[in-house]
Amino acid sequence: MPEEIRLQAYMANCGVASRRKCEEIITSGRVKVNGIVVDKLGSKVSSKDVVTVDGRIIEKEEHVYYVLNKPRGYVTTLDDEFGRKKVIDLFAKEDLAYRIFPIGRLDYDTQGVLLFTNDGELANKLTSPHSNVEKEYLARVEGKAGKEELAKLVRGVVINGYKTKPAEVEVIEYKKDTNTSLLRLIITEGKYHQVKNMCEAVGLPVKRLTRLRFATISTEGIAKGEYRRLKIHEVKQLYNL
Ligand code: URA
Repeated sequence: MPEEIRLQAYMANCGVASRRKCEEIITSGRVKVNGIVVDKLGSKVSSKDVVTVDGRIIEKEEHVYYVLNKPRGYVTTLDDEFGRKKVIDLFAKEDLAYRIFPIGRLDYDTQGVLLFTNDGELANKLTSPHSNVEKEYLARVEGKAGKEELAKLVRGVVINGYKTKPAEVEVIEYKKDTNTSLLRLIITEGKYHQVKNMCEAVGLPVKRLTRLRFATISTEGIAKGEYRRLKIHEVKQLYNL
C-alpha cells in the first residue's frame, strides 16, 4: 500500500503552495480527490489518488530553490489587486515552469533576500512560528537610536498585545544632517511588518528596510532584481537548521 498523508501535505509536496496556504485552497473548494470535491480538512491521500486543483492534476515534481535580490516597488504576492509589479515577474519563463512561490514575504518597499521554491515542506519548516530562523535587516530609521531604545528592541517590545522575542540590535551610524540612524537587527520571528512595527514602537519609524540575510542565505553577488539557484549544500543547510 502506498503511504497515505494528509491532503494539504501532499499538495505542498507537489509544490502547490505552503501547507497552510494549501489548507485555504482546500477549504475554498478548489480541490478534488478522484473527481470528488474535498473542502474539509482531515482527508488523507496516497500516490494512487488523482488530486486536482482548479481542474489541473497535481503531481510530485523536481524541487527547485532560488534566492532573489528583491528590489523595492514589487509585491511578494503572486497576484495583486492594484496591478503593481510582482516579484514573480522577475523570473525567466523557463524557471516558471516550476510552480515556485516565495518563502514568507517582504513588504512592497522592502528590498533584499527573498527565497523561492516549489518545496512546500521546506517552506513550511522555515516559516513555522517555531522555526526560530534568523533574519538580518538593515533599517534606516528617523531619529537618534539611544541606549534605551536599543535595550527595548533587544528585550522585546509589545505590538498588538504580543511581546516580540529577544533580538540582536546595533547602531551602525547616526547621520546628523538627516537626523536618521542606521540599525542592524537580527530577529527570529516573521510577523507582518515586524521590523517596522518594532522600530515604530520605540519611536524610530523606518524609512528604508533591507533584508541582508534569511537563515544562511544572503544576496552577496546578486544584483537587484536578479536571482540564482541555491546550491545543494545550501538547501541541505536550510533543511538542517
Ligand atoms: N519587517 C517589516 O516590517 N517588513 C518587511 O518587509 C520585513 C520585515
